[in-house]
Amino acid sequence: MEFKNLLWNLEDGILTITINRADKLNALNGETIVEIQTAFEQAKQETLKGIIVTGAGEKAFVAGADISEFNGLNIDNAKALAQRGHDIFFLIEQMSVPVIAVVNGFALGGGCELSMACHLRIATPNAKFGQPEVNLGIIAGYGGTQRLIQYIGKAKALELHLTADMIDAQTALNLGLVNYVEADKSTAIEKAKNIINKIATKGPVAIAKVIECTNAYFKDGVDGFDYEVNAFASLFHTEDVKEGVNAFLEKRKPEFKGK
Ligand code: COA
Repeated sequence: MEFKNLLWNLEDGILTITINRADKLNALNGETIVEIQTAFEQAKQETLKGIIVTGAGEKAFVAGADISEFNGLNIDNAKALAQRGHDIFFLIEQMSVPVIAVVNGFALGGGCELSMACHLRIATPNAKFGQPEVNLGIIAGYGGTQRLIQYIGKAKALELHLTADMIDAQTALNLGLVNYVEADKSTAIEKAKNIINKIATKGPVAIAKVIECTNAYFKDGVDGFDYEVNAFASLFHTEDVKEGVNAFLEKRKPEFKGK
């Protein structure tokens, strides 16, 4: 796939999407966010083990929504902008294969929100996370007020949103915002690939159901326990469950087909 502001690299079943506006610290302008949507919609059509999202260069993952596009927004188009971001980040969160953010530098505002829409986050030591929107007299608009609480709890989430402070990679690790901190970008990518390859040895339908059930916990009006009962039961229609159980009983490695 060819994009103006993204790099698409599909290798050995792992798709790496790189936000590629390094001169603007990979800020998400309208064009870029729509390209992210197109990339993930296309990714759904591919047979993938997993997806890595990262930023071009060493300085930034994504330094936020593109502030230069905020001038002249009115209530209606600001609402449309936020809604579009929400829809795209839900699309990412609901992917049936693991999506891992490799956070290599600033992950601010929409960048922090993009990383939080991914299933896991691996940071480099220079990563900085923050929701600095109040500096501009606005608030997070791509799900940040909701997802940051899910990862780090109300007290710390409120502190970050209210003060606009940034936290470093180690603090993010301690708070549970990131899964791992690796020495540099290439080892972080390697770690992400290892995790994706490990997950790819499991039952693909089961992996998709784990993601669905986890998302169900945070969905209004959905009883996650009921959701799990139904998801668990639905797996017994698959060939994979027979293969998984038989492989265990026959003391061999399972060969899942994803159906
Ligand atoms: N939107 C648009 N452009 C951005 C941007 C953003 N969110 N973040 C950085 N840029 C641009 C800068 O304007 C600059 O462009 P220029 O070279 O054409 O002037 C370029 O990226 C480099 O950024 P710069 O500010 O010079 O780098 P720095 O190292 O001095 O500071 C940051 C880095 C991340 C601290 C600073 O860029 C910043 O505060 N960015 C905004 C973060 C933010 O508020 N995000 C939430 C937006 S809702």
